[in-house]
Amino acid sequence: MITLSIETSCDDTALSIIKTSSSKKMDYSNFEVLSNLTTSQIEAHKPYGGVFPAVAKREHQSALVPLLIKSLKKANLLKEAKIIDSKKISRIKKNLEKNEDLFLQLKEFLTKYQLKDINKIAVTIGPGLEPCLYTGINLAKSLSYYYNIPVVGVNHLEGHILSSFLSPNEKLELPAIALIVSGGNTQLIYFEKIGKYKIIGETRDDAAGECFDKTARILGLDYPGGPEISKKAKDCKTNKHNIVLPRPMINEKNYDFSFSGLKTAVLYHTRKNKINDDYVKEMSFEIESAIVDVLVSKTLKAVDEYGVKSLLLGGGVTANQKLIKEFKKKTKVRLFIPHKKYTGDNALMIGLVSIYSPNVKKIIKPISNLKINE
Ligand code: KG4
Repeated sequence: MITLSIETSCDDTALSIIKTSSSKKMDYSNFEVLSNLTTSQIEAHKPYGGVFPAVAKREHQSALVPLLIKSLKKANLLKEAKIIDSKKISRIKKNLEKNEDLFLQLKEFLTKYQLKDINKIAVTIGPGLEPCLYTGINLAKSLSYYYNIPVVGVNHLEGHILSSFLSPNEKLELPAIALIVSGGNTQLIYFEKIGKYKIIGETRDDAAGECFDKTARILGLDYPGGPEISKKAKDCKTNKHNIVLPRPMINEKNYDFSFSGLKTAVLYHTRKNKINDDYVKEMSFEIESAIVDVLVSKTLKAVDEYGVKSLLLGGGVTANQKLIKEFKKKTKVRLFIPHKKYTGDNALMIGLVSIYSPNVKKIIKPISNLKINE
């Protein structure tokens, strides 16, 4: 069984091709990654200091087909087309009216190549930015329609949860708590078994990654803010400004988070001070400490109170070394941290969910009248 998976929920265009044996057990020995590629849009979003949805959609449209060709080549599955179905191509054209750039490249692909060996297509259907999600879904549905391959929809967050399985030497014991922290999400999830999850807490406003990005912007740092703040915090050697930021909701008796107040506190403090390198480093140190303190404290409280056996981390913010260090120091249960290349958005996690989770949905709702696999 060969699965092509597509992830376009935010600012990464990602495709993956996985080969699976017949076993349903999620285990490294049961799947082979034939290709796993991501094109980042970071440069395109830098001027905006965050992800700009219209730009993200445009970038996905231009990146998807070249990435598909590259992926198939890498997996040794790129084959020349034998027949061209012009009727189907014009139907796809009609249905990709809002993805014209994608259509033009796709048309060229369909006339040149074929997807003979792909048995299934998996695509992220949310949560994420709608114009971005639709670009990936439209590609999935067009390929599905043209080559008659089934297409299934996958939840992005479930992908991040299952990313923790991508550490080949560890054995996950359930139940577990999963902390998913990215630019768009901050959630604590009780993970009973594959396919069964309960959100026990989430952010009431900004996501933790968003807080890193927005406070970095206030300090004049580049996007994405997380790695920039982290770098500055690491270089911090002074404490001239005595900065103390709040740790929002850290002592509340629930598992929710709130990061917008932290951002406002940084804004007000920075307005009153002269921004120089020492100030930026000290403020970065305090921002990172505040976010890490809140995430670690609330997550470990959930681990204790739910009496779970493992803790999983997922999402772009879990690339943060201070966060990892704190969790390693304080976690009493097994800790699962995805490899750095799987902490951010990737398509491999989407493919894995489509193979191993009972939650996958067959896409039956046509996006723009293209009735595929109904
Ligand atoms: O999961 P992801 O790649 O994309 C989505 O948001 O969906 O996460 C990106 C987020 C950004 O907000 C970025 O600033 C943050 O992850 N991030 C970090 C680090 N690396 C990326 N935050 C803190 N420390 C890092 N080292």
